[in-house]
Amino acid sequence: MEMKGKTVVITGGANGIGAVAAQLFGKKGAQVAILDYNETAGEALAGEMHAQGMEAAFFKTDVAKRNQVKETAEKVLAHFGKVDVLINNAGITRDAMLLKMEAEIFQQVIDVNLTGVFNCTQAFLPAMIAAGKGKIINTSSIAGTGGNVGQTNYAASKAGVIGMTRTWAKEYGRKGINVNAVAPGFIETDMISTIPGKIITQIKQMTPFARLGKPEDIANAYLFLASGASDFINGTVLEVDGGMLK
Ligand code: NAI
Repeated sequence: MEMKGKTVVITGGANGIGAVAAQLFGKKGAQVAILDYNETAGEALAGEMHAQGMEAAFFKTDVAKRNQVKETAEKVLAHFGKVDVLINNAGITRDAMLLKMEAEIFQQVIDVNLTGVFNCTQAFLPAMIAAGKGKIINTSSIAGTGGNVGQTNYAASKAGVIGMTRTWAKEYGRKGINVNAVAPGFIETDMISTIPGKIITQIKQMTPFARLGKPEDIANAYLFLASGASDFINGTVLEVDGGMLK
């Protein structure tokens, strides 16, 4: 699954799954645009990738801010000349049980995880349509397919991502654009660092492979959906959770 000459945009690319994906695509020969609001980590990663002979550039962007996203899309297109793959990977959690969930944190998660995906896709899609091809990969979650205690906001945002994925697959398939989603299970990144050890043990027990997922497990799914190997796959949700029992 070579990506030589492809321009790949990864949101939330400074840390966790996004950073591992940025390096994987870089190693496969892609030009990688790392979008994130964490400037320190994003610049450091782009520098590290350059030092290893990969092509990467960091663009400071908050995906929840429409104007910033629009400006970034213009900068990315000016820098790389095109976009072949957009991976809407940026995401946050702000957990609380429903009755304790402040309206502000409900909205904050929707703004990043759902509206952010809408903003970025609207900004990059026209260039793909003009090129007559493109791959869009949205990051959902098993919380979006099955719900999860304490995650009303997060589950709603990730279920919404699936709805948008299937809609865009129908709207833009005829323009040569594939739109798919990946639904990770529990993956070892900062995002799950607040989950108590006791719960992590239970999660492992519910997983046939008896382990958490690694960022590489998700990055590999992104690579498959970005590559020519998935050209006839459109509007699907690829669950990458080790077969976790639901
Ligand atoms: P992470 O917390 O390690 O990394 C998320 C990245 O997104 C960070 O670099 C952060 O700075 C960036 N980000 C957050 N809000 C942003 C914004 N408004 N604008 C731009 N960048 C922003 O998280 P992780 O685990 O790498 O998550 C990546 C994706 O995978 C997320 O969409 C998450 O919801 C999803 N996911 C993760 C799971 C896990 O167990 N780690 C499980 C299911 C889905």
